[in-house]
Amino acid sequence: MIKQYVCHPFFIKSFLAFNLLIAFTNLKAQNVNIPINTEAFTMLLQTDENNLLRTVYFGESLVNESEYSSVSDMFNFTDSNIGISNATYTTSGTWNLSESAIQLVHADGNKSLELKYVSHSSKLLETNINLTSIVLKDPVYPVQVTLFYKVFVKENVIEQWTEIEHTEKSNIKLQKYSSANLYFTDGDYHLTTYHNQWAKEMQHNESKLTRGIKTVDSKLGSRTMLLQSPNFILSFGNQASENEGMVILGQLAWSGNFKLEFEVDSYDNLRFIAGINPHASEYSLPPNTSFKTPSLIYAISNNGTGEASRNIHNWARNYQVLDGKGERLTLLNNWEATYFDFDEDKISALFKDAKELGVDLFLLDDGWFGNKYPRNGDNAGLGDWQENVEKLPHGIGYLVKEAKKEDVKFGIWIEPEMINPKSELYENHLDWVIRQPERPEVYFRNQLVLDLSNPEVQDFVFGIVDKLFTENPELAFIKWDNNSVIFNAHSTYLEDKKLPQSHLYVEYVKGLYKVLKRIRTKYPKVPMMLCSGGGGRADYELLKYFTEFWPSDDTDPLERVFMQWNYSYFYPSIITDNHVTNWGNQSIKYKVDVASMGKLGFDIVASELSEKDLLFCKNAITNYHSFKDIVWHGELYRLSNPYTNEFAALMYVKEDKNKAVVFNYLVNNRVSFHTNIEPVRMAGLDANKKYRVKEINLYPGQESSLNTDKIYSGDFLMKVGINPNVNKTRPSVLFELTEAKD
Ligand code: DGJ
Repeated sequence: MIKQYVCHPFFIKSFLAFNLLIAFTNLKAQNVNIPINTEAFTMLLQTDENNLLRTVYFGESLVNESEYSSVSDMFNFTDSNIGISNATYTTSGTWNLSESAIQLVHADGNKSLELKYVSHSSKLLETNINLTSIVLKDPVYPVQVTLFYKVFVKENVIEQWTEIEHTEKSNIKLQKYSSANLYFTDGDYHLTTYHNQWAKEMQHNESKLTRGIKTVDSKLGSRTMLLQSPNFILSFGNQASENEGMVILGQLAWSGNFKLEFEVDSYDNLRFIAGINPHASEYSLPPNTSFKTPSLIYAISNNGTGEASRNIHNWARNYQVLDGKGERLTLLNNWEATYFDFDEDKISALFKDAKELGVDLFLLDDGWFGNKYPRNGDNAGLGDWQENVEKLPHGIGYLVKEAKKEDVKFGIWIEPEMINPKSELYENHLDWVIRQPERPEVYFRNQLVLDLSNPEVQDFVFGIVDKLFTENPELAFIKWDNNSVIFNAHSTYLEDKKLPQSHLYVEYVKGLYKVLKRIRTKYPKVPMMLCSGGGGRADYELLKYFTEFWPSDDTDPLERVFMQWNYSYFYPSIITDNHVTNWGNQSIKYKVDVASMGKLGFDIVASELSEKDLLFCKNAITNYHSFKDIVWHGELYRLSNPYTNEFAALMYVKEDKNKAVVFNYLVNNRVSFHTNIEPVRMAGLDANKKYRVKEINLYPGQESSLNTDKIYSGDFLMKVGINPNVNKTRPSVLFELTEAKD
């Protein structure tokens, strides 16, 4: 079903008169109404008398189409445009003097751009998904911009991107090419953004937006989330709260440099512009070609962050993440158990641990490759993807078979975009390395980045994965790491091809996507973990090709309660990999319980665990297999916020509400008498159902202090709640609620 709307001829004729009129432009819309409707919200776009496209409303659904035209009559923005523009895609070089969404230089050197509405169309792509596209054109230069709005109706999620094309005589230069430009008039905005360091990812920063521009960005080239994250929560009226108020929560889905700009103008309107970071990235666009920006993805809710998160989780599982509705493999990893110090025997012994624990897969981490420059530390070998003959004389194939004997699958770590200067690859292919030929090299973790704008490098990276799978068809998992940022951004390939160096940041990312597309065409399903020196990459564009991501190298479970809490706003637990390691002083129970709120893994030497700890782990893994379906595919309710309480509590509820699993943690044990005085109120249950409570993951010999004989109604559990009795002797309490059918 396609609806096509075209601009009235009068407005096409009036294009040229525009520049004369503009000084008196008012923002009252009169002509075409384009509603972008989710189930509960409307973003209303309208053309004004000059045929410019304006955003005139963003809020709860406007039910009467006949009243659309009256919306802008209610705003008296009639004095002038200065600083007040509500353009749906703000141009520059003409009348607009506020921050723009697009800036360009025409083939003749002129820098002005105006965009007038030409047409729009809407089509139903499939049940629940609508796509609206709006064509805008410059009346003077042959430049066309098409705005796309893909609406996931039920989830109240919008994915927005832009395509820019032209038919000028030669290349135009794109200096800024944003994905989206939103506009709000509510006057009171609160913004939460996330700031990272290695092992300290997803530290939130919440503030009321004041006048001026708040920028969140990355210029790191790769591992782009190392310092800042492209995730955001905007709330209106008040600080974001879990169950109340309007919030917009989302991400720019781009794996390279990003820029989010939140500008509150002098009239207290908010312009939110998001896209690829234009920093050092002027893009030269040939005639008759099109530049497609990445997507801004956001969930909208009127009931706070809880509902918005559940919406984005459902969107991610249903439409974005590879195999989002499928299964995941529990695993034992050897990174912290051995670091680089292992051989065939040591690894084979760990297969037995994996079997003893009861996990599905063994993951061999860094250190298995390089011969001339063996990978015995992080300073050598990256790029030389042949098994190290001293450590693994019989190769990976042998390990796959040995693991299979223990009934355990085998997976492997790679970091294919990177190179150590101490490597044969560096000796043979210096031209593949991103570096300034005339300047000293600068290293991040002793390594440099390969130039993925070069198709030969793309073939090389694809070849690493292809060889592993071709030689080892039973290889069941890949961990894809990326530990370095890009220093000295310069490409020999672009230089040889006489292409601008300012394309490198963008072409790197496009090259990466090309490789991943090839991998997924040939190996559509094999699970792959996205890792980047901890959580340096977790954008939803890459997650199209990955089944999960590694949030942080910090696996201290107390820290993880906080970090996973923040990740949970944006990512469903099925894609969040949590490992039990030696980080942190908490009990093994606390560690396993925390790691169970996602995809569970271990990175310990299980044979060194005490008998009781091992028994606990084995039982906990069995329990995990019984409830993982709810954690992976159920609805998440955040009940008690660790940032503001002594206790954290979260629960996952199965779709049909007959089962739930509830996690509770003590997060402040400075005072020994801290205990849950009050019950924790449950959420998401069926008020009319009855539930049985059972504490699980009890440590061997531990008795539950919960009364398991009683049956409670969903009504009671959601209004009064249940007391998990968390305290210093029970710092982690996990219980299940199961519908009691009598
Ligand atoms: C960084 C990752 O985050 C770790 O889990 C580990 O794989 C190391 N790289 C290996 O070098």
